[in-house]
Amino acid sequence: MATQYEFEHPKKAFGWAARDTSGVLSPFNFSRREPSEKDVALKILYCGICHSDLHKMKNEWGTINYPFVPGHEIVGIVTEVGNKVRKFKVGDKVDELPLDAAAPLLCAGITVYSPLRYFGLDKPGLHVGVVGLGGLGHMAVKFAKAFGTKVTVISTSPSKEKEAIKNLGADSFLISRDKDQMKAAMGTLDGIIDTVSADHPLLPLIGLLKSHGKLVMVGAPEKASRASSISFTCREKDNSWKFNWRDKGDSRND
Ligand SMILES: NC(=O)c1ccc[n+]([C@@H]2O[C@H](COP(=O)([O-])OP(=O)(O)OC[C@H]3O[C@@H](n4cnc5c(N)ncnc54)[C@H](OP(=O)(O)O)[C@@H]3O)[C@@H](O)[C@H]2O)c1
Ligand SMILES: [Zn+2]
Repeated sequence: MATQYEFEHPKKAFGWAARDTSGVLSPFNFSRREPSEKDVALKILYCGICHSDLHKMKNEWGTINYPFVPGHEIVGIVTEVGNKVRKFKVGDKVDELPLDAAAPLLCAGITVYSPLRYFGLDKPGLHVGVVGLGGLGHMAVKFAKAFGTKVTVISTSPSKEKEAIKNLGADSFLISRDKDQMKAAMGTLDGIIDTVSADHPLLPLIGLLKSHGKLVMVGAPEKASRASSISFTCREKDNSWKFNWRDKGDSRND
């Protein structure tokens, strides 16, 4: 029997919805209101899959009311605009980018591009580490290479080495669980973009940084990765110890 979701608003819509924490999606008919004067309606043609969709589907952040239709890296064609909308018209699409390639830029792409720029990790000659070669990680490698930096991927998955080096152009690949590899790379990175979607040890990553290196955490695991304050210290050239960690929300940029 049809539910209220199908009829509460005039516009018919369809999606794939999670209905509980199982991670299973099933067809879902629902409805949307008419666009108001400042709204833009679009037909979604492509949608990237971001791990935040998975966290939400499984209610790992505790914020979801089911049924829930995941998907926020969306692109499509404008089908309706409100009468006060000036920047868009019916038929518009995202610039001239191919729509399928544009979708992942809208979350994974901007989430790693922004801190690379903001924290100054976009200069040729710098050495940037990317932790976790998933959706965000592969974007981070591509942007960091495009900025001209040297890129090391730090991964738990040996099978991703070829993807990192041959396909994405990373310069080197470290297995984060290999203590010898991690030890040999200590103090070599100017900055790290950590994209890991689960709780994981930070201390080995901090050890990879040079003095004044920057560790930027963009992953949003169910349980936050923690490290004691002593682990955020790095050795200065004069052998003193100094806090040098920066996070995504930190406005300092020295
Ligand atoms: N801050 C923001 O605004 C923002 C925006 C978008 C997404 N996010 C968050 O960013 C995270 C990554 O998203 P995504 O779409 O890139 O996810 P993804 O495609 O699943 O990639 C995450 C990667 O993390 C690594 N990983 C997973 N479990 C691990 C563990 N237990 N220990 C160490 N490494 C592990 C894996 O890489 P390896 O196999 O290479 O180790 C995996 O491929 C998610 O938490 C997401 O919610 C945040
Ligand atoms: Zn996202």
